[in-house]
Amino acid sequence: MPSSAPSLATIILISAVAVALLALQWNYNAQCASPSAPPDAETTHSGYFDYECAGKPHHSSWSSWWHPQRKTWSGVESSHSHGRGAGAVTKDWNILYHLGGNGPWVEKVVDIVEGGIAVPEGCEVEQVHMMARHAERYPTVRVAKRIQMLVERMKQSGIPFTGDLTFVNDWELFWSDDSQIEQLTATGPFSGTLGSFTTGVRLRTRYAHLLTRAFSLPSKLKFWASDSPRVIDTARYFGTGFFGLDWANTTRLEIISEHSSLGANTLTPGDTCLAYVEDEEEGHDKGYTMLDRYRATYLGAIRIRLLKQNPEIEFTDDEIYAMQEMCGFETTVRGSSHWCDVFTQDEFRSFEYARDLLHYYRAGPGTKYGAVMGWLWLNATTNLLLEGQRAGPLFFSFVHDGDIAPMITALDIINDEEHLPITHIPANRKWRKSQVSPMGGRTIFELLSCKSSDGTTDPRKYVRININDGITAIPSCDSGPGRSCPLEEFAARTKRKGEEVGDFREKCGLGEDAADRITFLRQ
Ligand SMILES: *[C@@H]1O[C@H](CO)[C@@H](O)[C@H](O)[C@H]1NC(C)=O
Ligand SMILES: *[C@@H]1O[C@H](CO)[C@@H](O)[C@H](O)[C@H]1NC(C)=O
Repeated sequence: MPSSAPSLATIILISAVAVALLALQWNYNAQCASPSAPPDAETTHSGYFDYECAGKPHHSSWSSWWHPQRKTWSGVESSHSHGRGAGAVTKDWNILYHLGGNGPWVEKVVDIVEGGIAVPEGCEVEQVHMMARHAERYPTVRVAKRIQMLVERMKQSGIPFTGDLTFVNDWELFWSDDSQIEQLTATGPFSGTLGSFTTGVRLRTRYAHLLTRAFSLPSKLKFWASDSPRVIDTARYFGTGFFGLDWANTTRLEIISEHSSLGANTLTPGDTCLAYVEDEEEGHDKGYTMLDRYRATYLGAIRIRLLKQNPEIEFTDDEIYAMQEMCGFETTVRGSSHWCDVFTQDEFRSFEYARDLLHYYRAGPGTKYGAVMGWLWLNATTNLLLEGQRAGPLFFSFVHDGDIAPMITALDIINDEEHLPITHIPANRKWRKSQVSPMGGRTIFELLSCKSSDGTTDPRKYVRININDGITAIPSCDSGPGRSCPLEEFAARTKRKGEEVGDFREKCGLGEDAADRITFLRQ
């Protein structure tokens, strides 16, 4: 049927607009609950989306995303009690910032350069590199098991739940078909399908001027995904949003195997760095050890509260943690979750920190393998930045969060002076998983060329880092326009870091015959 493609495009487009409106509605609910401005107050705004308190009929409402299993929408129905309060949205609290990577994409809002993502005056983006996590997904197998076991135990207990768990009496798990486990979510305002498509459209809005060059390369423009269905799907939806429905004809999506034999020529060094996989003390497992130790400090009080309300059933640390995990995961399927309201805001601050620790010690600055793994992509990307326009305009890579933490570590951009403690939450910590790698989290490197103040072209180039649409300055390399980093300084930094972290093959216990660098990342 010839009309099927356009109608799909139309549906996707309408959905994207709806999401933009929805994001606005979230603001509306957060900030405009009581109309406080006098009706004649002439507030200036530059477009539809800045007029935050307009209300209907100008905005689509949250409730238009009705899901049969979503009994109430906590942001809308004021009669809903908000339980312990973590699911409520107020001026100072948004649960989406405390889900530790288990929830929908959000913008980075801490430690960002003022002024938004607009390109600094007189500058132009010449080249773009992105490393992105797959979009919103169902839990992974391991987490899904934990959740299923808990839900089954609760259902089979035959207990009529009371207190904070009353809702469970007529609540159903947010997946019914186990083949959905690990895959992108495909319903609701925070679905991964919509999120990845929207990201494509957002980036096309920003970088459309690079498309002509992208499509006039001698061979088709490449972009990359590690070999995992949710990662590949994210790249495909993204490609549709960025390049158009015929992306598969006009570009080439290269799938990079996640197999352990690839050595350094990989997007997923956490699978190929064998010492990291095998070292139980300092490797991959360290994150889980630290997570378990920290979460024992706050879950006990919750257990006592739940036990008071439901004396017939006592929950383990793993089960209470699974309840907190469900808050984020269910939100990406149904748009909201009652599980959020089982907890206080402080209890979600603790959950968030537990997840920060997991990633900090699993693949970030807290493991000695973090930087050496992350440097591979950084090195390849720095070489392309140095090559400039000749290398091509666009480089998009799709991976997992376990690959982003090492890159951020090698980039040395989110640094805490001391390793994160497992005894308490350091209020001023920099490392915040929720803001760096939520579902769909992305770090973009822009190569800028600028004009000097006298209008002549500045021969120097600059690198600007955009993490989830918060421009983030590189510590001690921010003297360029918009606090960007002069390219030659950036390159010197990468080189120094390489010397500091040492050889990937050696650190990872690989032989001389293993690949020593990334070679696929080029147009
Ligand atoms: C891709 O190209 C083929 C061959 O020219 C064509 O039949 C197909 O419709 C194209 N697909 C899209 C999505 O444009
Ligand atoms: C990248 O790595 C290669 C060797 O693996 C090295 O020769 C080159 O200088 C590195 N580039 C940067 C910018 O660090």
